[in-house]
Amino acid sequence: MFQTLTPQPPDGLLTLIGLFRDDPRNSKIDLGVGTYRNVAGITPVMEAVKAAERILLDGQQTKGYLGPEGDQRFVKLLAPVAFGAADAHAGRLVGVQTPGGSGALRLGGELIAAARPGATIWLGTPTWPNHRPVLEAAGLTVAEYRYFDPATQTLCFDDTMAALSAANPGDVVLLHGCCHNPTGTELDPAQWDAVAQLVAERGLLPFIDLAYQGLGEGLDADAYGTRRVLTAAEEALVAYSCDKNFGLYRERTGALFALARDADAASVVFGNMLTLARVNWSMPPDHGAAAVRIVLDSPELSRLWRTELEAMCRRINTVRTALADAEPRLAFLSRQRGMFSQLPITPETVATLRRDHGIYMAGSGRINLAGLQVADAGIFVHALRAVDGLPQEC
Ligand SMILES: Cc1ncc(COP(=O)(O)O)c(C=O)c1O
Repeated sequence: MFQTLTPQPPDGLLTLIGLFRDDPRNSKIDLGVGTYRNVAGITPVMEAVKAAERILLDGQQTKGYLGPEGDQRFVKLLAPVAFGAADAHAGRLVGVQTPGGSGALRLGGELIAAARPGATIWLGTPTWPNHRPVLEAAGLTVAEYRYFDPATQTLCFDDTMAALSAANPGDVVLLHGCCHNPTGTELDPAQWDAVAQLVAERGLLPFIDLAYQGLGEGLDADAYGTRRVLTAAEEALVAYSCDKNFGLYRERTGALFALARDADAASVVFGNMLTLARVNWSMPPDHGAAAVRIVLDSPELSRLWRTELEAMCRRINTVRTALADAEPRLAFLSRQRGMFSQLPITPETVATLRRDHGIYMAGSGRINLAGLQVADAGIFVHALRAVDGLPQEC
């Protein structure tokens, strides 16, 4: 049986983790791994989550199954965080808990494929490298358009609008809700308005990947596009991750929300989500969602979580500003948002930075700003100058 399998290439970021760990230099800097890091360089468990976990440990009476829909109180409390008012889209909006944002993307892809086999989904490039394989594995046909120009570090808004205008009614368009991974380059509110209107006019299905809410500008500002698109669209999907904004990474905490035409349609969509969840993971893992539910159910823990999240967001933006201040040719970093930006450098330059300067990043030039300490901004800029890794001023 297994002799028909072919070896698979190792995961680039996992390889990078190993190389970084084995690098003996004290001055090494890890901008590769995609998790938030604090001023001590660690990915902390948030205080609000710790407190919720204690409550969970003391209070949980049973480990009985929850069902394929997961923790529905978690889903109900998360919806207003993402969509605004508690009754936003009342009756038309349903959601299930999923194993992270990845599970939500896969489930959403399969839901689309069940409704329209082989449907086309439009991805703006570059995008998170897992988007294409996950959505193709779900049975969708991927079409691409240019979202970002690395040379000028700008959004290709005309290409985006042209692609959406050329797409056929019933096609799906994947949109990063905020903190675009890997480019940090966002639509501004006016551009979101235009996209929302075009998507609705053209009868496209928006599938929003909201994986970093609160890590760009703040919870509400980061949800502007999602809320705008859902207000305009008749139908939509949102893949939500709590793994970044609650720091729950390994707990695999997320949700898939679907907006349907009316309550009856929503109930059919919900039933299909359950059937698909059942044949994938049967039921999602409980712990992370239970912790989020406890946080969101408590005004005090919610306040603490929001304060901690704001501090994380501030730290990322402080690093962005420090780099832009240290080197005018990095000014674009201060206009971008979220943990990631993609430097316009070659894989060879990335390798030189690693070898000669102990600076680690993805081969694409993607950097995680949260991996940098403000005090090390000068070292990083110096290294970029040394390897000729700075773009023209843009
Ligand atoms: C854009 C984007 N979407 C979705 C995900 C998946 O998140 P999760 O870890 O919750 O599966 C990630 C994770 O890196 C991401 O960057």
